[in-house]
Amino acid sequence: MDKYIGVSFFVAAIFLLHGVCGQNTIYLKDNCNNAVSARMAGMVQWAKMASGGMTCPMTLMAPSNKLVGLRFKSFNLAKFANGSCVDVIGITDADGTTIMPSGCIKPTTSLKSVTQSVNITVMKGSSSADAFELEYVVFYEAANCTGWDFKCSNGRCLDQKLKCNRKDDCFDNSDEASLMCDLGLFGNFWAMFLRLGLAAVIGILVGAVLLLILIIVLCICCCCACCRRKDNNAV
Ligand SMILES: *[C@@H]1O[C@H](CO)[C@@H](O)[C@H](O)[C@H]1NC(C)=O
Ligand SMILES: *[C@@H]1O[C@H](CO)[C@@H](O)[C@H](O)[C@H]1NC(C)=O
Ligand SMILES: *[C@@H]1O[C@H](CO)[C@@H](O)[C@H](O)[C@H]1NC(C)=O
Repeated sequence: MDKYIGVSFFVAAIFLLHGVCGQNTIYLKDNCNNAVSARMAGMVQWAKMASGGMTCPMTLMAPSNKLVGLRFKSFNLAKFANGSCVDVIGITDADGTTIMPSGCIKPTTSLKSVTQSVNITVMKGSSSADAFELEYVVFYEAANCTGWDFKCSNGRCLDQKLKCNRKDDCFDNSDEASLMCDLGLFGNFWAMFLRLGLAAVIGILVGAVLLLILIIVLCICCCCACCRRKDNNAV
């Protein structure tokens, strides 16, 4: 029992650390013509400091069999007075499918890749605005989920570490459902308990029953010893 609690704390600590370390910001400006590995979730931005007058394509690549979900957190691409774009962003899948047409109009829906990687191309004009914050989440489609993943209501599967992190990583908010998340530590331990697998759960239950029996036997022994002492006193 103690061992499982110890292991649970250890796993929780690793999850927490990995969760914090897994959220990274990729600055496009520093990665022109690079292929960058997408970790479980993060952000693509032009740069902290804006600079103009360049075209910058970057490939964002998910691990194999995973896809990339994309959503603009902020979108502030400049337009000239005549309506044409100062800054332009376009997103295509690495297989050539258009995911977001080049332009400076914010997509009305979230986006996702068709294959493992997307190409994000920004043509940065003379504007000094930081332009956009593009959130990405790496996910499995339902067919390729594993038992360890968090299953979203929409069928996507995410890394467990993205659950209850106050960010809608499923893109349907099911990873932040209040009932699950408000249970807090208990909810997390319960979920972890369930994920230990049938054998471990049975092991813990059998252990708990044995412990209960041991306590009952000890109580009965104590009572008997008490009674015997009382009987002896009475004589
Ligand atoms: C709009 O204005 C910009 C800058 O003044 C100019 O470079 C661009 O060619 C114009 N676009 C059109 C369609 O007139
Ligand atoms: C995507 O970018 C890679 C280089 O990172 C390039 O080889 C590939 O042709 C690009 N695909 C498309 C459809 O633009
Ligand atoms: C699931 O994984 C297989 C390879 O194991 C891959 O060919 C397929 O495209 C994946 N399906 C989805 C929906 O990602």
